[in-house]
Amino acid sequence: MGTCFSSAAASASVDQTPSSSVTISQKTTTNTSSSSSSGTNSTVSGNSRFSAASGTDFAGSGQMIPHPNLRVFSFSELKTATRNFRSDTVLGEGGFGKVYKGWLDPKSSTSGSVIAVKKLNSESMQGFDEWQSEVNFLGRLSHQNLVKLLGYCWEDKELLLVYEFMQKGSLENHLFGRGSAVQPLPWNIRLKILIGAAHGLAFLHASDGNVIYRDFKASNILLDGSYHAKISDFGLAKMGPTASRSHVTTQVIGTYGYAAPEYVATGHLYVKSDVYGFGVVLVEMLTGLRALDTNRPSGQHSLVDWIKPHLCERRKLKNIMDSRLEGRYPSKSALHIAQLALTCLESEPKNRPSMQEIVEALERIESVSERPRVPRVQKHHSSHHQRQPLQYRSPLHPRQQAPNINPAYPLPPRV
Ligand SMILES: Nc1ncnc2c1ncn2[C@@H]1O[C@H](COP(=O)(O)OP(=O)(O)OP(=O)(O)O)[C@@H](O)[C@H]1O
Ligand SMILES: [Mg+2]
Repeated sequence: MGTCFSSAAASASVDQTPSSSVTISQKTTTNTSSSSSSGTNSTVSGNSRFSAASGTDFAGSGQMIPHPNLRVFSFSELKTATRNFRSDTVLGEGGFGKVYKGWLDPKSSTSGSVIAVKKLNSESMQGFDEWQSEVNFLGRLSHQNLVKLLGYCWEDKELLLVYEFMQKGSLENHLFGRGSAVQPLPWNIRLKILIGAAHGLAFLHASDGNVIYRDFKASNILLDGSYHAKISDFGLAKMGPTASRSHVTTQVIGTYGYAAPEYVATGHLYVKSDVYGFGVVLVEMLTGLRALDTNRPSGQHSLVDWIKPHLCERRKLKNIMDSRLEGRYPSKSALHIAQLALTCLESEPKNRPSMQEIVEALERIESVSERPRVPRVQKHHSSHHQRQPLQYRSPLHPRQQAPNINPAYPLPPRV
């Protein structure tokens, strides 16, 4: 694997040679956290990873610089922190293994004493490459919308990753989780999460080497106590195309329901392949439905294929909006999000917007959603104050920016 890895290995004092690329095939993962949902019992659920050999894998081609700020944890330290990996500290489980909540001795830690520890399951089909990729990418990148990797552990066969603890867990739990512990997400929080996650992806795409994230999905968007979104899981991330190439050819690995069609068909991975995944999450956010759910009637398994025709019209959209919103959302903003989703889901990558354009569009939609409604009483003042007919404008091509917010009206408090 990449030369960058040797620095990780050196600091962990281990001399094993990493294995070659791991192929992940038809693996169903389930969360063991509070949520359960219709999608998770199927053999191909929203979390199913797939892989199909195609082209050359350029993973870890030596572009990484050493990651300076990661702490090397001992296994016994993490065992103590997680009460011996006790089952009641399990936060969830993915393809890599279980994720535990842990408590560090406050004296030994400068960055908060609560942690999340991801421990490789010996039976997992993910493994060294994903662990290494996470250390290399996340260890080097720092952004307020990326989960902070605090350190790692590598002792014998034990591979662990230590993250900041994200209090509210994953977006997946909130959108699809059932049970009294899971509160439906209000509209303004949904927007806030989308904006945060979009910032995270935009940062990656703009960063040195144009990192392609490759596994954008609701379970990889984690939320802190204020619903501030951070992207996690860089196990599948890739460096983007070099100047001479427009895409990276790679083994096709991703998650059913989220992966861009060109990537699934050809293995060609573009920065815009992430944009497609973002579009899928936009649709999940609108509908509260999983990207893929084989428990739905046939013809509705793939959310995008099923819902796409409903995204272009306000009336059709209303029928498929998440019932847990109980109608409490500005329908114009919802339509703008739906239109934005359609552009992200364009089959030609070049027709999709960039993540930076998406950030800007979402922020405009948010500012309009936050604008206070004109009090009803004004309607009666005179006929020439009637509302203008709605003119749809793509959120990507707004009218010359009018001031978004009337300073006379204070904004409602943000979450
Ligand atoms: N830093 C964290 N803080 C709090 N909870 C976390 C953290 N990281 C992960 N979790 C919890 O653990 C669950 C499993 O995460 P994990 O990334 O291992 O799997 P996944 O995203 O569900 O699937 P995949 O393996 O496909 O990424 C998450 O859904 C979340 O609930
Ligand atoms: Mg994950």
